[in-house]
Amino acid sequence: MREHLENIKTLAKADIQATCSEAELESVRIKYLGKKGLLTGILRGMGQLSAEERPVIGALANTVREEVDNYIEERSRLLKKMELQDKLITEKLDVTLPANKKSLGRLHPITQIENRMKEIFLGMGFEIVEGPEVESSYNNFDALNAPADHPSRDYQDTFYITPSTLLRTQTSPVQIRAMQDREPPIRIISPGRVYRCDEMDATHSPMFHQVEGLVIDKNITMGDLKGTLAHFAKSLFGKSTQTRFRPHNFPFTEPSAEVDVSCFVCGGSGCRLCKGEGWIEILGAGMVHPNVLSGCGIDPEIYSGFAFGVGIERVVMRKYNIDNMRLLFENDLRFLQQF
Ligand code: DAH
Repeated sequence: MREHLENIKTLAKADIQATCSEAELESVRIKYLGKKGLLTGILRGMGQLSAEERPVIGALANTVREEVDNYIEERSRLLKKMELQDKLITEKLDVTLPANKKSLGRLHPITQIENRMKEIFLGMGFEIVEGPEVESSYNNFDALNAPADHPSRDYQDTFYITPSTLLRTQTSPVQIRAMQDREPPIRIISPGRVYRCDEMDATHSPMFHQVEGLVIDKNITMGDLKGTLAHFAKSLFGKSTQTRFRPHNFPFTEPSAEVDVSCFVCGGSGCRLCKGEGWIEILGAGMVHPNVLSGCGIDPEIYSGFAFGVGIERVVMRKYNIDNMRLLFENDLRFLQQF
């Protein structure tokens, strides 16, 4: 029996040393120490031994079991170490390789220019106010001094939701809301989307963006309007930019003007961008019409003000020399990634 136990120990040791993985080691453990294992069998058969033999063989069997246990543990530690070393060799990481490029998104050029415009006006003490895109025809036309038969309603035809509700054709109705809600002094800009029944072509889109401006206070003059827009143009297009006011007509301002900036490519001498003019038109402006003021409950004898409206797409196109407005709405990354 003693010999048998010694044999089992030797065999177990050899088996354990031959294992190459934790799984193999586990099956060796089961072979010797499992429920039906060789050593377990012997310990179970102790009852058949004589009273003298039993304690001696029992003690020996226990020692053998402990030793086999120890071999297994030792082997397990060694296998783990080998596995780690293996990993360290095969999963080598070259930290000098160039990293995968993470591509960050960017703001659309329309949003970039809109943000720049907001910054410029915030710097001059303006507040940003937004209005709804679904607007009453009263705020969009009548309150802006364009009654039902006014010709400007033709070229600003739009999408009607009901006969008295429409998609706004301009950001100017936000002026009306501001004057109805607030007491002068008022100094706001209002950026947003506007809509017109226009076919999409190189210079038109049924949806585009404007930034409206409105200032109402005592003693506001055309000089304030000119100074404000001159500062705006210099901030947006460069310090040497000049502004020019040309007489125009808008129902809600009197007098009204279209405002040009000196061409920021040629500086005014004439080039392809400004079509030889030296000037580029960027916005409409004027002194708020007394009818508009009184319609909103502001006394035109006490207060005066100016307003202006800039088309953002037009500025983006002029600034970056883009000749087709469609490019701004197609969202082709090859185009957008240039900004
Ligand atoms: N609403 C005008 C348009 O869409 C732009 C404009 C012109 C706005 C003059 C103004 C203004 O406030 O004073 O064509």
